[in-house]
Amino acid sequence: MKRENVVGRANVEDTPELEAYYRSLEGEALGALWTVANEIEPWYPQPKSVPTLWAWKKVEPYVRKAASLVSAEKAARRVVMLVNPGRKEWSAAAGLLYTGVQVMNPGESTSAHRHQASALRFVMEGRGAYTVVDGERLTLGPRDLVLTPNGTWHDHGVVDEEAGGTQCVWQDGLDIPLMNSLDANFYEVHPQVVQKTIPGGPSKDHWSKPYSPVFQYRWDESYKALKKDGAAYEYRNPLTGGPIMPTMGARLELIKNEAPMRRHTGSVIYQVAAGRGWSVIGDQRFEWEEKDIFCVPSWTRYQHGAPGEAVLFSFNDLPAMRALSLYREE
Ligand SMILES: [Fe+2]
Repeated sequence: MKRENVVGRANVEDTPELEAYYRSLEGEALGALWTVANEIEPWYPQPKSVPTLWAWKKVEPYVRKAASLVSAEKAARRVVMLVNPGRKEWSAAAGLLYTGVQVMNPGESTSAHRHQASALRFVMEGRGAYTVVDGERLTLGPRDLVLTPNGTWHDHGVVDEEAGGTQCVWQDGLDIPLMNSLDANFYEVHPQVVQKTIPGGPSKDHWSKPYSPVFQYRWDESYKALKKDGAAYEYRNPLTGGPIMPTMGARLELIKNEAPMRRHTGSVIYQVAAGRGWSVIGDQRFEWEEKDIFCVPSWTRYQHGAPGEAVLFSFNDLPAMRALSLYREE
């Protein structure tokens, strides 16, 4: 029991009589709120996630090895997950966000499926990768962002070597832990295993879905927009100007010198798109370089810096936080 000697907070001394009372409550699927109140209603968020950096140098050998150990077909999704030491039971990289690195060899493809979780991928390397989203076939290049929003049928693959395909690697980002903590997750396999593509993609007139009708954001265009703004580029739903998906947002940041220190509710997962630099997250300092992935847990102070110029890609659960009126920042 976490006692606090503050008016309005639980501060009950243990006695033999009370301890016996607590034990008898447990047997009846009951409990005394004052024994846990200070823990379950903290003064401010107490994320279990810890600031973590996954250096690409360390992750890469495991990713390459997975490509020869298991088939893409059997694994369904051949992914090395990035698991936060404080959020193992949720398979989360931070808070309510999941991330992993997927690898595919030329000529491989996955079966089509859909899920309630929203997903995005940020391509790390390779040629000839494609994703089909609700019949629209998208060819992906390095640092392209691709969305497979909640409920869309999708499958991925890499074209044969003869067609120019090479081993492809990308980062997946999903809100699986959010869906599971809300007990709202669903998963379905497409009846045709591989969905038919629609030439030119399906019609997007009269769009009423809660996510962006644009599923692919090409690197050259996003980078150009970032350079024009000079600080940040938010990937947006072009119809609404709002976030790309109802629960997750994504952005690029141009880091020069030292950005201001800040904190907010909601978690962020970064991938270094270009350059090198550092971040102070909580009381830890991390040095990063291209393709490194790191996380900022909710309500944790952070600051980025770069000796020259660096670009950070990131995705977050801020749209979910805002939708529930839970967003706060300092
Ligand atoms: Fe998926």
